[in-house]
Amino acid sequence: MYLFTGKIVSNRQLTRDIRYLRITAPAEFCRQAAPGRFVMLGCDDGLFDPLLKRPFGIMNRGDDWFEVLIKEVGRGTLQLGELAEGSCVSGHGPLGNGYPEVDSELRSKDSSPLILVAGGMGIASIASCLLFNNRRPLNPDCKTILLYGAARLDELLLLDEIEKNSADLRIETITDDGSSGRRGWVTELLENELRQHPASLTFACGPEPMLKNVQQVLCKFKTRGYLSLENRMACGFGVCLGCVQKMAATGDNGAGESAKVCTQGPVFPADKVVF
Ligand SMILES: Cc1cc2nc3c(=O)[nH]c(=O)nc-3n(C[C@H](O)[C@H](O)[C@H](O)COP(=O)(O)OP(=O)(O)OC[C@H]3O[C@@H](n4cnc5c(N)ncnc54)[C@H](O)[C@@H]3O)c2cc1C
Ligand code: FES
Repeated sequence: MYLFTGKIVSNRQLTRDIRYLRITAPAEFCRQAAPGRFVMLGCDDGLFDPLLKRPFGIMNRGDDWFEVLIKEVGRGTLQLGELAEGSCVSGHGPLGNGYPEVDSELRSKDSSPLILVAGGMGIASIASCLLFNNRRPLNPDCKTILLYGAARLDELLLLDEIEKNSADLRIETITDDGSSGRRGWVTELLENELRQHPASLTFACGPEPMLKNVQQVLCKFKTRGYLSLENRMACGFGVCLGCVQKMAATGDNGAGESAKVCTQGPVFPADKVVF
């Protein structure tokens, strides 16, 4: 884990309350920033208000920069979202485990696609699987499908960038209000795909109710997947226990187990998470 001060290279406003920030970081941070890992960020103004940094998925990275998508929902995200180019942020990371490598061992049938499911801001984490690879398929003989759901058309973010930077990708979108041409939940798209390719591997990130539904769909089709959780966090590196998530018991005594999302996750096998 690296503690660093980064500079805002760019801050694009994508919607009324969503910002896309590029931030400088040490080269070693960028090298270790695998898809699905995250970073804790706060303003570097010396005021420590709010005291705690906030967690964000690392959406993309270069040799000495990384990018995050920030939805302004409270004090911490509003402050970060307002930072002008050249302002400083303090960060620590990269943190967490990230998505597993897509190798033949993980996929049960070579011809089955990898299905990426993003709900709302979950696109930041999911898109890292595509953008980090710099136009190389996640696995040479593995097709990838991105299923992306949002509340409205204008909240389907950065589709052009994702498409331009991803080889062999099919994208299907859906919105709560039908403004993208299809009305409904992203889990409906997942069911359609799994009906055709029941041996697919699925990675998903989004709000908890969506992840719960993804888990049920995967269970229904008896297929494997991984969920990236976004529990509230205070430290990000395993000391505060603020992020603990209930997990399925693995021992004989039947007692429930728990996991720290920041260090043991945020990505977990879908059948292990107890919502
Ligand atoms: C691993 C991880 C990755 C994340 N990635 C992103 C990302 O890429 N982009 C992004 O915009 N956000 C992301 N989040 C969520 C983000 O960290 C929170 O929105 C942020 O911490 C809120 O801080 P705040 O000070 O603005 O809001 P607060 O004042 O702390 O809270 C404002 C409101 O937001 C709710 N809230 C706060 N944190 C969360 C949370 N984790 N989940 C659901 N509701 C929450 C609070 O209950 C409250 O209603 C991620 C969270 C985690 C744990
Ligand atoms: S956020 Fe502190 S233990 Fe996970």
